[in-house]
Amino acid sequence: MDLLIKNIGILFNGYKFIRDTSVYIENGLIKSIGKNERAEEVIDANGNFVMPGFIDSHTHIAFAGYRDFEIEWKIAGLSYEEIARGGGGILYTVEETRKASKERIIKEMEERAREMFMHGTTTIEVKSGYGLDKKNEIKLLEAINELKSNATIIPTYLAHAIPHGYDSEEYTRYVIEEILPEAGKLARFADVFCEKGYFNVEQSERILKEAKQHGMLPKIHADEFSCMGCSRLAAKLKAISADHLLMADDKSLMEMKKAGVIATLLPATPFVLNEEYPNARKMLNMGLNVAIATDMNPNCYVGNMQFIIQLAVYKLKMPIIDALKAATINAAKALNLKDVGSIEYGKKADLIIFDAPSPNFIPYYIGKNLVKTVIKEGRVYSQ
Ligand code: NIG
Ligand code: FE
Repeated sequence: MDLLIKNIGILFNGYKFIRDTSVYIENGLIKSIGKNERAEEVIDANGNFVMPGFIDSHTHIAFAGYRDFEIEWKIAGLSYEEIARGGGGILYTVEETRKASKERIIKEMEERAREMFMHGTTTIEVKSGYGLDKKNEIKLLEAINELKSNATIIPTYLAHAIPHGYDSEEYTRYVIEEILPEAGKLARFADVFCEKGYFNVEQSERILKEAKQHGMLPKIHADEFSCMGCSRLAAKLKAISADHLLMADDKSLMEMKKAGVIATLLPATPFVLNEEYPNARKMLNMGLNVAIATDMNPNCYVGNMQFIIQLAVYKLKMPIIDALKAATINAAKALNLKDVGSIEYGKKADLIIFDAPSPNFIPYYIGKNLVKTVIKEGRVYSQ
C-alpha cells in the first residue's frame, strides 16, 4: 500500500520549511520527499501547508468531573490554591473520578482523544493522577491502556496530590510501596507534581528514583507556582522533561540544558489562571529544547494544539518555526520517541494537511480548525 501527497505548497519537516514538494509513503512509513513517485493513492494538497502530526506530550484526560464552575472564581481573582481550598481543584476531580467506572472513564477519554485527533494530534501522552489510591490509580492506568484511538497513546503514572487522610510523607511512602510496583506494569513514564502543598523536592526525588527501578522514566511538573528547585532536580535525575517552568531560575535552566532535559511549556494553564507566562525566548536563547503541550485537564480544558501554537506565538513570543518544532520534533523527544515528530525517511507517516497555504495561518486564524486531513501511519482521515 503506497500513498503520494503531491502539490504541497510548503512542507515543515520538523526542522525547516521546504517549498513545492511531495511526500511519498509506503506501508505507513515515510519513503521519500520531493521525488516524482507514482502511487496507488494520490492526494492533491492543492498548494497547502503540510507538517508532522502534533504530539501532545502532556495531558491529564483520564478523569471524570468537570470544573467549569471554577471560572467565576478565577475571574474574581481567586488563585489556584484558593480554589483548591474552596472545594474545587484536583481533589474535587479525584472524588468524581473515583465514583466513575473504568468503562465511563474510557468512553470520556475516547471522545477527548477523537476531538484531539481531528485537530491534528497523532500522539497523546496521558497521565493518571485523579485516583490517588492504588485501586483508582490502577483503574486509570488500565483505562489509558485500553482506550481506543486513532492517535498513539502513551501512558504516564502521575503522583499528583496528597489525598485526604494522609500527610505528604505517609502518602509518599504509600506511592513508593503500594502504587509504583503496579504502575510500572502499565506506564512508560512517572511524573510528580513537585510543588508547595503537594510533593517536595526530596519526596519527588525518592518517587522518581524508585519509579526508575520499575522501568518508568522520570518527568516532573516543575516550578509552576514557586521556584523550589524542582527543575534542578529534573537535571540531577536526567528527567526526560520538566514541565510548566513558570518560576524556574536561570541557573536551573542551564543545568537542565546540560543534562538534556526538554523544557515543556504549557501556555494554556497560565491563560486560564490569569498568570504570567514562562520566558520561552530566554529558554530558546539558552539553547534548551522547548516543547509545547496542552496540559488538557479539568482546570485547563483544551485539546487543540493549534490554540497552543497561537499562545506560544503571541504570549510566549516564540517564532512560528520554533512553535512548530515545539509541537512536533521536540515533543517527540519529550516522550523519548524516535519514530515520530518529523517527516524523514523511515519515520511513521503521521502528517497533517492544512486548509491553509502557509504555516503563518496557524497562529493567524484564531478559533478555527484549519486541519483538513490527518494521516496516521499512512491511513488517511479527512474532515
Ligand atoms: O498540570 N499542576 C498540576 N496538575 C495539573 C492540573 C490539575 C488540575 O488542576 O486538575 C496541571 O496543570
Ligand atoms: Fe500537568
